[in-house]
Amino acid sequence: MDRLSILFAGAGDDGLHISDIAAGLPGQWSVAHASGPDEVLGEIEHGRFDVLLLSAAQTNGNLAGMLTRLRAHGSDAPSVLVTGVPDHATGANLMRHGARDYLVRGQDDREAVLHALGSIAERRTLERALVVSEQRVTQVLDTVTRAKREWEGTFDAITNPIFLHDADYRIIRANTAYQQLTGLPFEEIIGRPYFTLFPKQDGPLQDDGAGSGREVRDQTERRIFRTRTFRFDETAACRYTVWIFEDITGMKLAEENLQELFLGTVKSLSRAIDAKSAWTAGHSDRVTRYAVLIGRLAGLSDEELRTVELAGLLHDVGKLGTFDAILDKKGVLTPEEYEIIKQHPLRGAELLTPIRQMNHIIPAVRHHHERYDGEGYPDGLKAGKIPYMARILAVADAFDSMTGWRPYRRTFNRGEAIEELRSCSGTQFDPELAESFIAAISRDDLPRVA
Ligand SMILES: [Fe+2]
Repeated sequence: MDRLSILFAGAGDDGLHISDIAAGLPGQWSVAHASGPDEVLGEIEHGRFDVLLLSAAQTNGNLAGMLTRLRAHGSDAPSVLVTGVPDHATGANLMRHGARDYLVRGQDDREAVLHALGSIAERRTLERALVVSEQRVTQVLDTVTRAKREWEGTFDAITNPIFLHDADYRIIRANTAYQQLTGLPFEEIIGRPYFTLFPKQDGPLQDDGAGSGREVRDQTERRIFRTRTFRFDETAACRYTVWIFEDITGMKLAEENLQELFLGTVKSLSRAIDAKSAWTAGHSDRVTRYAVLIGRLAGLSDEELRTVELAGLLHDVGKLGTFDAILDKKGVLTPEEYEIIKQHPLRGAELLTPIRQMNHIIPAVRHHHERYDGEGYPDGLKAGKIPYMARILAVADAFDSMTGWRPYRRTFNRGEAIEELRSCSGTQFDPELAESFIAAISRDDLPRVA
């Protein structure tokens, strides 16, 4: 802190020795001297003082007049006046004129002056500290205001909707993109539980962390967003969660188009397979529906059911490499022709190998003619060694083949086909899958097929 300054107007002959007094003051002081009223005023004009120590002798005996002139010169420094006249009325008058203290010279002049200056110094030091403290508060407020402006500007410049909620799930900050998404003014957003606005739900999520990666739609159901959440200040009293939304509408649309294109292509291919023979029209489609039903009865997941669907549509893709003359033959096949037909699961697997997205259905395609007792082809796998999807396809494929028209044998009606499935359960077919399918057929739960 800067040293305190004193303007001293006195002389040795009035008994005041400033050097002696200054040495007794606490802290660092700078001392300026003045002799007579004009010099006092001159010093006042050129510098600021923390205290004025004026003796009556230096003011031509007119201390009150001196005080008036000091005020006129804009001085607000506290004055300590020293006089040799022990007159209380004069003292009171000088105090009314703004004197801070009025000392009558006596035996303890030095102690009295030190006491008066000491209290002024203490007050001055406090005042200065207060000013510094106020300046710091102003600086902090400026910094906070600027930071708020910068933060809000940045927040609003981000086009992803963002909001921040507290431990009670109430929104305490939101950016313009979020405000536009909700269609509400900020005043109606701030303080509301986030789940009453967007993403709208019955209540808060059990774990906000699980909010990441969710797909949510806006109220028009047209825009799709993926959520990301971050939590910070994880204390009991103070916990914040930030939600950021990424608009993935375009990406989802492209994904759906691609999926549609993929499935459309697979279905076309499936029809091309069935068209290889005059009596297999719709075969792959029906097998797919039966297989999906069996899969559903077995409790497969949606993703597994999609695999069953794809495998059903393409289970006979290997027939694309088989001569039409054999596939279309009306009579019973020769052993050689049958050997060629038996190649189609392997050919199918080979055809699908280069397509990464189809690799997961290869086991089902390759093994759909295996038998539960190990007497099937191409690998003679037995029971649990046969891929599950292939066991499902085997039941569905056999049922459709039995109930479909074939020139080389008579067509089974539903009851006969059920009987055949039952009699081959455990030998040709996985008994559990066959039984659940038989039960579904008996309840007439078969899916409608073309
Ligand atoms: Fe087949």
